[in-house]
Amino acid sequence: MKKIAIGNDHAAVEMKFKIVEYLNELGYEVINVGTDSEDSFDYPVASFNVCKLINEKKAELGILICGTGVGISIAANKIDGIRAACVSEALSSKLSREHNNANVICFGARVVGLEVAKDIVKNFLETDFLGGRHERRVSQITELENKGSIDGIK
Ligand code: RB5
Repeated sequence: MKKIAIGNDHAAVEMKFKIVEYLNELGYEVINVGTDSEDSFDYPVASFNVCKLINEKKAELGILICGTGVGISIAANKIDGIRAACVSEALSSKLSREHNNANVICFGARVVGLEVAKDIVKNFLETDFLGGRHERRVSQITELENKGSIDGIK
């Protein structure tokens, strides 16, 4: 079973605990590196903590939750090797795995309710990258990350 890293800021503590409970019910091993306190906590720190575990291969996939999912995903996407998708429904979550090989899913505790959040997480964790025609585009994302440009375009 996949090992999942989860992180959050102060806006998403309650949601994080509910999602951890849900992940445990589904049988996942969860590494919680977010804040457990509602005292102010900077979301880029949560992004760093989760993405580090992924890049070190201590977790396979990551979940990041802040107020909107926006800040925490922007921060995660600054880290080499991370493809973080910010979503608010399950289809985008599923397609972020199939098409984009996303390794982190992000959403907002102030944006989605618990049932939608569970649906987002389940679709993300249970879906694999399709490869094929999507492989080239994901490689181009890596080229942008490494070189700031894509071979063959001006
Ligand atoms: C914290 O108030 C809030 O800015 C943060 O949780 C998130 O929504 C940022 O994108």
